[in-house]
Amino acid sequence: MSDHTEVKMTELNYSKDRPKAENPVKVEDISLRDGHQSLFATRGRTEDMIPVAEMMDEVGFWAVETWGGATFDTMHRFLNEDPWERIRTLKRYFKKTPFSMLLRAQNLVGYRNYADDLAKAFVDRSCENGMDIFRTFDALNDYRNFETVVERIKANGKHFQGCICYTMTEPRMGGEVYNIDYYVNKAKALEEMGADTICIKDMAGLCAPYDVYQIVRALKENSKIPIHLHSHFTSGMSPMTHLKAIEAGVDIIDTCMSPYAYRTSHAAIEPLVMTLLGTNRDTGFDIKLLGNINEILEKEVMPKYAHLLDDSKMSIIDINVLLHQTPGGMLSNLVNQLREMDALDKIDEVYKELPRVRKDLGQVPLVTPTSQIVGIQTVNNVLFDDENERYKMITAQVKDLCYGLYGKTAVPINSEVQKKALKGYKRGEEPITCRPAEVLEPELEKAKEEIGDLAKDIDDVITYAIYPVTGKRFLKWKYGHEEAPPEVKPRTLEQVKKERELIKKAKAGQLVEKKKEDVPEKSENLRTFNVFIDDEYFEVGVDEQGESPVISYIEQLGQMPLQPVQPMQAPKAARPKKPAPAVVPPATPKPAKTEIVEEAVAAPPVAAPTEGTPLRAPMPGMIISFEKKVGDAVNQGETLVILEAMKMENALPAPASGTVKAINFNSGDSVAKNDILCVIG
Ligand code: CO
Repeated sequence: MSDHTEVKMTELNYSKDRPKAENPVKVEDISLRDGHQSLFATRGRTEDMIPVAEMMDEVGFWAVETWGGATFDTMHRFLNEDPWERIRTLKRYFKKTPFSMLLRAQNLVGYRNYADDLAKAFVDRSCENGMDIFRTFDALNDYRNFETVVERIKANGKHFQGCICYTMTEPRMGGEVYNIDYYVNKAKALEEMGADTICIKDMAGLCAPYDVYQIVRALKENSKIPIHLHSHFTSGMSPMTHLKAIEAGVDIIDTCMSPYAYRTSHAAIEPLVMTLLGTNRDTGFDIKLLGNINEILEKEVMPKYAHLLDDSKMSIIDINVLLHQTPGGMLSNLVNQLREMDALDKIDEVYKELPRVRKDLGQVPLVTPTSQIVGIQTVNNVLFDDENERYKMITAQVKDLCYGLYGKTAVPINSEVQKKALKGYKRGEEPITCRPAEVLEPELEKAKEEIGDLAKDIDDVITYAIYPVTGKRFLKWKYGHEEAPPEVKPRTLEQVKKERELIKKAKAGQLVEKKKEDVPEKSENLRTFNVFIDDEYFEVGVDEQGESPVISYIEQLGQMPLQPVQPMQAPKAARPKKPAPAVVPPATPKPAKTEIVEEAVAAPPVAAPTEGTPLRAPMPGMIISFEKKVGDAVNQGETLVILEAMKMENALPAPASGTVKAINFNSGDSVAKNDILCVIG
């Protein structure tokens, strides 16, 4: 690329007024969506985007990504923020740079295909609230899932960016399925649909530099519309991939501001600006302005999130991605899930099972939601299958996939697995071949009716329609019907400073240890009880000394979290499993105290000692629904409970036939592994 490096040094400077390049690379900044989604589990708050918003508007980005992906989910679930409000707020600061969002086509910003009426309303409302560019993707690259949303994007006069999800089955591009022809054909299909730009979406950072070169060249030769590259850093290849794509003529590149860059996120903008400075593809960006933005981010914003960064390893790249051709986020989710189930030793079996499950399920690309679908089914197979039976516990989403509800897979699904998954499936045992949304009943009116007065406008209704359980809870917080719990409140810089001072003191050995209280030895008479108080439970040891028992120790075993569904890629945000035992001084042996303990033991609000066969939670998660009521008859194997774990719904079968004697939780409750959900007698 000799012509690229011809630089007239005298005319060069860092600011925006240097001579304009012949064909500048356009850049989309994705710090405010994919950046914090990748690095700290999408926990970025609107208030932390505002301090840099006006400066970022001055850089000259082609677009800024501000919404979509997991933001909608995380905001209402974990941050107590209205997702719709974020677009409107940020729009007041970004006056000239267009907004881009990631749209999961018919999956919108959720994890299943929604009905056409909801999909249309969602796109219309997104446009109305200020969205400009819709980066649309489908996990199966089945563009029939684009039809409804694209019609609305176009009708609203907005920009339709069509994605090709980049995936592979071999160590490099090629093989039977995902070869160069595959990408060229997909690009042609997008052009025919009226795409304004085409995005190569390399969510796992799998796209090797020389492969991207080949693809971009082929797409430029075969299509007239601009090509955009989205390539995660995860494997470490992306800066090289960016450069080769630029040499091949790519039009737009995604990057992050450096504090939001690298690891599972994206390459940073600053080195790219310097790399291209003075070449015919110079971005034209003011590097000093970028430096000023960085300073604010580093000082005022990032400290609040540092605790969410995964600093468990030294390396900022994940070579497992290169070894297993799977997204880093998916791998860390698998590890989290196994850890939650005390089965981390099974990780190698999971790596082995993963390509088998993926092949069985039609070699789907691994991106939300298919990465979770394949990942969780893999873990279920490793944990629950035995030598006599494979696919013992099939998730609801795998059943939907086998039915055709997500669309057409790249290669056909294993017919045996498909048959097993569809046995007794509620929509029918024969899979469909039409556009999936055609079999979906309209759902917006139903949602409106269900949510009633709790929704004040159509945006509220859509929030509820996409996220019925957590959306409803959010609306209760929003309108003051329920107080939001402390864990959804923002961290302040003051808190962070205090914590840092404490850590500093601790490291310097200046923290004075509290004097231990004298605790009597536990005697052989010690009996232990589980005591449940609201959402906490304690193990209480009662030691009889003479006539009346006294409380001898209390160990807080766990706090039932609001959301045990593990945040994506944030192992550190997980709740502590067993906090250090809190040593409680022995209570004075007053009978009154004893009575309270005995009473609590006699009538715990959860897990009443009902006789019968218990159905225990096989994994931590959130109850979606109980399919039966107390008193209902149930047959062994019939679905009793729908449990959401890792965002997948698991149908839990009745362990025995009989009558439902007790149901210990409600829909929306979080449960720990082994909690007794209900009892059959
Ligand atoms: Co991404």
